[in-house]
Amino acid sequence: SDGGDGGESMEIVPGTAPGFPPFEFNDDSGELVGFDIDLLSAVVEETDYTLADWEEFEFDSLIPALQNDRIDVIAAAMTITEDRQETIAFSNPYYNADQAILVPAGGEFQPSSLDDLAGQTVGAQEGTTGAGVIESELVEPGDVQQSNFRTYGNYVLAVQDLENGNVDALVIDQPVAQTFADQRDVEIAFVYETGERYGFGLRQGESDVQSALNEGLQAVRESGQYEEIRNEWFGG
Ligand code: ARG
Repeated sequence: SDGGDGGESMEIVPGTAPGFPPFEFNDDSGELVGFDIDLLSAVVEETDYTLADWEEFEFDSLIPALQNDRIDVIAAAMTITEDRQETIAFSNPYYNADQAILVPAGGEFQPSSLDDLAGQTVGAQEGTTGAGVIESELVEPGDVQQSNFRTYGNYVLAVQDLENGNVDALVIDQPVAQTFADQRDVEIAFVYETGERYGFGLRQGESDVQSALNEGLQAVRESGQYEEIRNEWFGG
């Protein structure tokens, strides 16, 4: 909504891609919960906007949904990248992450560098920076065949395939890899440092929403709410 019509509250429709714990996932009762859900709610609370109900998509449908005005903001642990900045805008960063290589727990295969993934089957969620690492560091140099690169609609399906032995390793954001390692029969083999920063995705040219979210983000950091939400989802 473009707002500005005299005191009426301006609604922002948030979109996310669940199956990425603890940032966004469906809990046992199916409810959408997580760090991003709480953080964006707290941030918007600090602004003149209100938050509408969440819309759920597969990760690689979020940018099209934003551009088609089905949603107004993406809160999906989305890394701020130059590629994405060609089509959308981002808030200031709110979380830092690297990639991790996830393998079956206690298995034979214990890679310690990307070189060790040569000749294996590797997987990632479609459209993610993890998939980008596989593409540029393993498939392009010819260490992994294109046909041995598995892409998934979400990481829950990918982790199932890993547990079932249908894929040898996954490339996935480290905090999420850690969460799956805590809950499932998988473990982190090593961390691949990418120095990524997550931001809320926004349409380009909507600088009023962008400044409001940036100010809201700063307010929740200063009030201690950011840390509370972080502790709730990551312990500490
Ligand atoms: N940070 C990675 C990226 O931006 C992965 C994000 C996946 N998020 C999700 N909600 N499934 O590509």
